[in-house]
Amino acid sequence: MDKKKNISMAVIKRLPKYHRYLSDLMKNDVDRISSKELSEKIGFTASQIRQDLNCFGDFGQQGYGYNVSELYSQICNILGLTKLYRTVLIGAGNIGQAIANYTRFDKLGFGMKAIFDINPKLIGIRIRDIEINDIDYLADYLKENAVDIGIICVPSNNAQKVCNILVENGVRGIWNFAPVDLIVPEDVKVEDVHLSDSLLTLSCLLNDIESSDS
Ligand code: NAI
Repeated sequence: MDKKKNISMAVIKRLPKYHRYLSDLMKNDVDRISSKELSEKIGFTASQIRQDLNCFGDFGQQGYGYNVSELYSQICNILGLTKLYRTVLIGAGNIGQAIANYTRFDKLGFGMKAIFDINPKLIGIRIRDIEINDIDYLADYLKENAVDIGIICVPSNNAQKVCNILVENGVRGIWNFAPVDLIVPEDVKVEDVHLSDSLLTLSCLLNDIESSDS
């Protein structure tokens, strides 16, 4: 049975955190860890961790805990980090440039292959050696080069148009920074990023503290 198909979205959302912490443990040469210790580090309850990890098989051993490298490689497997992804970024403005400059995505296996923009002043400029191309070239580029993920960093009124070009030319993953609900076929996966949601969560927490203080 393919266990991955039955994993809930809530568990999937927690996996990157496991990946991050296990990667740190590996760097610090930690061989094994109990669910209690992992729980103290990661901030999920020990029973939550046991339940989450049970979704993928029997990793923990009573009295031994988890084998860190085994668990790490399984999490990498489940996260699809055993392959390399080819990405293109559309919209080399504030957020687009910040993403293009962030080298950690490459280290995780998400290699940025090209950048596109509509602004003639940006075309030809390089960000980390990746040239910014004219958006008019996007469809042809995608016909000539297989791309897994399109990163959309254009204003919301242009996001669907850009998304359509990506999808029509075989891109099956969209990492969307524009505050708009993109319409895509079922076999295309969209992950929206909203930094403001995180900021509003913080504001809500601060507000909670203030109201409990008063
Ligand atoms: P910006 O104006 O600095 O950059 C947008 C870039 O897109 C410009 O370089 C522009 O020339 C280019 N562009 C516009 N239409 C295009 C098209 N059809 N094809 C190719 N390039 C095109 O804007 P900024 O601040 O970088 O924001 C970009 C997007 O990201 C916006 O939709 C904004 O709302 C969103 N955003 C999202 C955040 C989040 O948390 N998800 C945080 C900040 C911004």
